[in-house]
Amino acid sequence: MRLNVQDFQLAARRRLPGFVYDYVAGGAEDELCLARNQADLQTMTLSPRSLRDTSAISTSIEVFGRRWSAPFGVAPVGLIDVVRPGGDVLAARAAGKAGLPYILSTASNSALEHVREACDGPCWMQLYVMQDRGMANSILDRARQAGFEALVLTVDVPVGGYREKDIRHGFKLPFRPGPRLLLDMALQPRWLWRQALAGQPQFVNLMPTEGASSAQAQAALLARSMDRSLVWNDVAWLRSKWDGPVLVKGVLHPEDARQALRHGVDGLIVSNHGGRQLDCAPSTISVLPQIMAIVNSQIPVFIDSGFRRGSDVAKALACGATGAFFGRAIAYGLAQNGEQGVATVLSLLTQELERTMTLLGAGCPADLAECLVPTAE
Ligand code: FNR
Repeated sequence: MRLNVQDFQLAARRRLPGFVYDYVAGGAEDELCLARNQADLQTMTLSPRSLRDTSAISTSIEVFGRRWSAPFGVAPVGLIDVVRPGGDVLAARAAGKAGLPYILSTASNSALEHVREACDGPCWMQLYVMQDRGMANSILDRARQAGFEALVLTVDVPVGGYREKDIRHGFKLPFRPGPRLLLDMALQPRWLWRQALAGQPQFVNLMPTEGASSAQAQAALLARSMDRSLVWNDVAWLRSKWDGPVLVKGVLHPEDARQALRHGVDGLIVSNHGGRQLDCAPSTISVLPQIMAIVNSQIPVFIDSGFRRGSDVAKALACGATGAFFGRAIAYGLAQNGEQGVATVLSLLTQELERTMTLLGAGCPADLAECLVPTAE
């Protein structure tokens, strides 16, 4: 019986080859940040407000003029086709049907146009800026034309995190499995069959035109590096290329929240990439209050990393966040049962949030702030 995200994670562990499961579930170095995210969320408590009318509660919120059925959505997850071919389209469709937002990764394996078409709800485009700015320009043009509503600039990957599990497995791109990975795959015939039919995942949005990819072209692309000269002033460059809201994802320092405001950013996603980048980074929930104090309600602040429960969303909202995003939880749903698996995970999370809000006496997301009792000095 799968009652929660943890159950979906255990099922994914059984259904995916070890190297795929570790790619999704693993973190950087000693996985301290990965553990810290969840531990700090679990330690936090909320105090219920008594005798409040919760006969008609609503989880819905409005963000950038669009209604979300609940204050959370799907975080960008690259290379998702190793979990399930066509994963971006399947997850975007499930999110859209649930009235929840979807953020598509630059490193997605489905053409951004196809994902936008499949997604009935708010759809945002995540951007990695590489040394060749032509790639970013091309993604921006295509995303604008396809009708993506907001741009999410991820800033916490100047280099890839040191994910030792991936290295030990020998999992790198382009994908050339050695004997160990072949055995790992052979133990999951259903997964292998699906992958064989679909062919090797490609980073189609980093190619000049869809379908132009070849193993060599992919390898050449992957050898290029992120643009480490990217600075706050470059937000102006993005602004000149993008009419809609621009959000920055990966902010953890309060002073960077101030910089974001100074540079006219429209929203923040407080994130440590789910513990996949800087292992000594703080948990996101621990830095959220200081960031909220600086932002002072001027722009929406979202959060991700370590969120597994509807009550985790309630905790972030109690600290003032507008909403939260889920990365791995969605990938586990996808591994289990494609679009339906994602739909089930999203529905479980909504139910958990509704139940938590009812128990807390919160009729709407804004009421959650009243359930936070500051710790006594
Ligand atoms: C990610 N994340 C990510 N972020 C991003 O901006 N672009 C990307 O391409 C990816 N790719 C990616 C792959 C995988 C396998 C994972 C697990 C994560 C980070 C993601 O958007 C989000 O910040 C974290 O997943 C949030 O943490 P949880 O919910 O997974 O704990």
